[in-house]
Amino acid sequence: MLAEQSKSKKIFDNGFQIAKNADLASKVHGKENVVNATLGIFYNDDEEMHTLDIVNNEYKNLSVKELFNYSSSINGEELFIEAVKQYIFGKNYSPVLDDNFTEVIATPGGSGAIYNTFKNYINPGEIVLLPNYMWSSYKLMSKEVGGGYQTYSLFNKKGKFDLVNFKNSVMELGKIQKNLVIVLNNPCHNPTGYTLSSYEIKNLMAIIREACKICNIILINDIAYMDFNIKKNNFTEFYKDLPENLLLMITFSMSKSFCCYGLRVGAQIAISSSKETINNFLDASLYTCRSVWSNIPKGGMTLFSNIVLNKKKYKQLLFEQNCMKNILKERADIFLSEASAVGLLTLPYKSGFFITIPFKNGLEKEIENKLKFDNIFAIIIPGGIRIAICSVPKYKIYNLAQRIKKALS
Ligand SMILES: Cc1ncc(COP(=O)(O)O)c(C=O)c1O
Repeated sequence: MLAEQSKSKKIFDNGFQIAKNADLASKVHGKENVVNATLGIFYNDDEEMHTLDIVNNEYKNLSVKELFNYSSSINGEELFIEAVKQYIFGKNYSPVLDDNFTEVIATPGGSGAIYNTFKNYINPGEIVLLPNYMWSSYKLMSKEVGGGYQTYSLFNKKGKFDLVNFKNSVMELGKIQKNLVIVLNNPCHNPTGYTLSSYEIKNLMAIIREACKICNIILINDIAYMDFNIKKNNFTEFYKDLPENLLLMITFSMSKSFCCYGLRVGAQIAISSSKETINNFLDASLYTCRSVWSNIPKGGMTLFSNIVLNKKKYKQLLFEQNCMKNILKERADIFLSEASAVGLLTLPYKSGFFITIPFKNGLEKEIENKLKFDNIFAIIIPGGIRIAICSVPKYKIYNLAQRIKKALS
């Protein structure tokens, strides 16, 4: 009965199954004997899902109308839009965005922001360019909107962003497509924890500018993990000298930064040097919003703007986020130093929720089983084990690298 285009739809993502196996193992062997490094949710060192006091308090103070009413517009609440700009570009954002036109649309999480972009910028049959290690939903979304995907390789042999491969991949597709949608997930890339240096961003943007001579480029930067960058975020290189046929799309999510994964609040921030491009973005994106999810939770948007636009509350938010960052750093330092001591190779990690251990493609099932045998549960991606250090308490990180090394050998 399914429509033709829906007959091949089936999710082969086994992440949730591995997470279920971890829960089952905890019941059988005791929680303290099981490492559950599966999901991208921050757990504290008592292995409870972490939440932020400032967010909890603000949520409890929302009025019934703020919680349950429709949003005042499809774009999102006015104060939310202002708060998103301040949150990403700083309080005095005007000079940053002065040379360009910018519009913000509220979406259900970062997922909604990415989907909305794919939907309106991938022509039927076109290929979107994704990193070879990636959040797997990008693949699903590209197919959902009638496109396909190809990957660029993230790292060169020196463990730096592979600008050469990136350029070749962009140029190859640019020659045959009208639009080329490219996904970056920076900073704190999922699943490797890599963050591009300013040098790498500068060079990447030079490649994009060159490619704009042969096709339209829609560059998505997925910043879902922006608040876990150990260094200060500096996005300005992305907005300089934008050719008219380049649309920069920042996709923002409240899920990880505010520990409110189920609230479903995010945004698309479209930036272009062409007013027409931004006007067209608004028309098409609002149409998609209205026809797919209509509008997003008013309460979530109000919660965000109440915190971000209030100096004292914002300060507390930064303090609490900083505590999370410190915990992540501690866990990562332990894991990486032990990995290096036992000769366990990891992909280049800078900061964030995940560390990835590469292995030869084809061994996925075998490695999953070996880890399971030692009560270690992690997402097995093609050619890699993704360790969600965000969800593993410090005491379970000790010795984990040795145990994984053993499972791999
Ligand atoms: C890389 C990346 N981007 C975007 C998202 C979207 O998150 P949400 O839709 O909850 O905002 C996630 C969630 O896991 C992610 O890992």
